[in-house]
Amino acid sequence: LCALIPQPWRERKNIKKGEINLVDFKEIIAKKIGEISNIDSKNIYEFIETPPNKEMGDYAFPCFKLAKELKKAPQIIANDLKEQLVFENNEIPKIDIAGGYLNFYVNEQMLISTVLKEIEKSKENYGSSNVGQGKNIVIDYSSPNIAKPFHIGHLRTTVIGNSIYKIYKFLGYNCIGVNHLGDWGTQFGKLIEGYKRWGEEYNIEENPIDELTKIYIRINNLCKEDESVLNDCRNNFKKLEDGDEYCTKLWKKFRDLSIKEFQKVYDMLDIHFDSLNGEAFYADKMAEVVQILEKTGKLVESEGARIIDLSDKNMAPCIIGKTNGSTTYATRDLAAIMYRAREYDYDKNIYVTSYEQILHFKQVFEVAKLLGLDEKYTDNLIHVPFGMIQSKDGRMSTREGNVIKLEDLLNEAVSRVETIIDAKNPNLEDKKEIAKKIGIGAVIFNDLYNSRIKDEVFDWDTMLNFNGETGPYIQYIYVRTKSVLDKSGYVPKLESINFEKLQDKKSLEIVKLIYNFGEIVKQAAEKYEPYILARYLISLAQAFSSFYNENKIIGEDQQVQDARLYLTYATGLVLEKGANLLGIKMPQKM
Ligand code: ARG
Repeated sequence: LCALIPQPWRERKNIKKGEINLVDFKEIIAKKIGEISNIDSKNIYEFIETPPNKEMGDYAFPCFKLAKELKKAPQIIANDLKEQLVFENNEIPKIDIAGGYLNFYVNEQMLISTVLKEIEKSKENYGSSNVGQGKNIVIDYSSPNIAKPFHIGHLRTTVIGNSIYKIYKFLGYNCIGVNHLGDWGTQFGKLIEGYKRWGEEYNIEENPIDELTKIYIRINNLCKEDESVLNDCRNNFKKLEDGDEYCTKLWKKFRDLSIKEFQKVYDMLDIHFDSLNGEAFYADKMAEVVQILEKTGKLVESEGARIIDLSDKNMAPCIIGKTNGSTTYATRDLAAIMYRAREYDYDKNIYVTSYEQILHFKQVFEVAKLLGLDEKYTDNLIHVPFGMIQSKDGRMSTREGNVIKLEDLLNEAVSRVETIIDAKNPNLEDKKEIAKKIGIGAVIFNDLYNSRIKDEVFDWDTMLNFNGETGPYIQYIYVRTKSVLDKSGYVPKLESINFEKLQDKKSLEIVKLIYNFGEIVKQAAEKYEPYILARYLISLAQAFSSFYNENKIIGEDQQVQDARLYLTYATGLVLEKGANLLGIKMPQKM
C-alpha cells in the first residue's frame, strides 16, 4: 500500500551542497554589540554563550568580558547596551538583564521560518557546508595487523575514524581514508618460515587468520628452542625486504587473505577506504628518512640502536633503527608523513588510535619536524586518542589481549536483536536486514556516546535498550516519524505552513535543536568528537518523543496538522542524517 501513496520525503534530489543560509542570530547580536562598544564583533561572537536553561534566553552575553576595555562595571555595561541595542528587523524582540548578563530571546517566528525554509531547500544536505572546500584531510584509522585477528581492540579506531571521515566530508573537506595496515615487520619472517615448513598442514585459504595464528605460535615456540630457526626467520625477513620472489609471494598471499577476511567486517559496517597503503608500502621509502635525519646530525648511536634523542622535550628517544639493523614502526610512520605531504598535500593528517600510542605519536611528530617539510605539514599532525573498552566486570581489552573477534561481536549484536524482534514484533518483514541495522547501529552508537578518551563500557543490555540513550532508541524514534508520515501519506508544502502553529513549547524545542544541527556537526569536527553529535541526536529524539506523546499530529485542524507533519518530516531528516554521520543506518520499520 505504501508504494502507491506518493512519498515525497523519499525523493533523493541532488542538491548542490552550499553554505547554510540560516539566519545567524548569534552573529546579528555580535555585530550589534560590536558596533556599539567598538570592539571586534568576532571577539564578541566568541563570548556569547548558550544559557543552560530556556528561562535565561536563547543567547547570553557576559558583560564582564568588556569591563576592562570599557572601564565600567558589568551591570552598567549591561544597562547601556540594553538601551542602545536596536534590532531593525526585530530579530531579537526581548532582552533581559540578569546579574551582569544580557539575555537575548530570538524572534520565534523568524526562527521557525528560517529553519523550515532551509530544510526545504537543502533536504538531506541540511547542515552541510563548504567550509572544507579545497582542503585535504588524511584520516588514518582502523589499521589492523595482517595475519592477526581483527579484534575488539580495533573497534574504536574503526568506528571513530569512520565517523570523523563522514563528518569532515559533510563539511566539504576532501577526505582520504587510509587503512595503515600492519603488514610489515619481523613477524613475517617467522610466518614465512612456518609456512615453508608446515604450510600443507594448514588450510589458510579457508580460515586464514586462525590458521596463520597457529603457524605463528608454533614457529615462535620452535624459535625459542632452536636459535638456528630464529636465524632462518630473520633471514626470511631480510630477503623479504630485498624483494626475494618466494618470500614476497608468500607475504602477498598472507596479506591478501587477511584483507579478504577483514573485508567482512568492513562490509558489515559499510566502511570504505581510499588507500590500503600500510607499513609495507613504506619499506622502500625509509632510506630517505634515514638519510635526511643523518644530515641533521641528530641521528645518534645508542646501545647499538640508532635514535633521535628527545630528552630536551622530556620524552624517551625515538628509535629509528633497531640494534639488529631493522627499521621500526616509527620510521615507517615518518616515511608515511613525507609521502602523505607530497601525495595528498594535506591540510590535516589525523591518526585515530588508542591512548596507548600517545607517546609514539608525540615522538614521531617531534622527529617529523626534522624532515625538512613545510611547517604546514608538521603543524597539522593530529593524534586523536581514545580509551579502552571495558566489559561490565571491569576487564579491559587492549590491542594484544582479550581476543574477541569483531566479526563475532557484530554477529552477536545482530542475533541478539533478532531475538528481541522475534519477541516483540515477530511478523516484521525483512527481519534480518533490520536486525543488522539495529544491532550494528547499537554497537557503533555505544562506542560514540562518550567523550572518546573515556573508557567505553561494553554491556549488551545497556546498548540494546530501546528506551535508553542508545542507537536503537534513535532508530525507534526515527521510525516513528516515518510511520506518522506514512499514515498521513504526504509531506505538506512549505508554502502552506502557518509558522504560528509551531509556537508551542515542544515544537519550539525541536525547531531550536534542528536550528543547531550544523553548529553541532562543526563542533564535532573541530574537536574530533562524534559524541557531541551522538548526544545531540538523543536530545532531538527525546524532544520529538515528548512532542509526539503530548500532541496529536494527524487529525487536528488542517493547519496544525500540516505544521506538525512538516516538523515530523524535518526531525526524521535530521535524525537520519546525523545517524549516518556516525556510521549508523536507519531502518524504515522496526
Ligand atoms: N597497526 C597499528 C595497531 O594495530 C595501528 C596503526 C595506526 N596508524 C599509524 N599510522 N601508526 O596498533
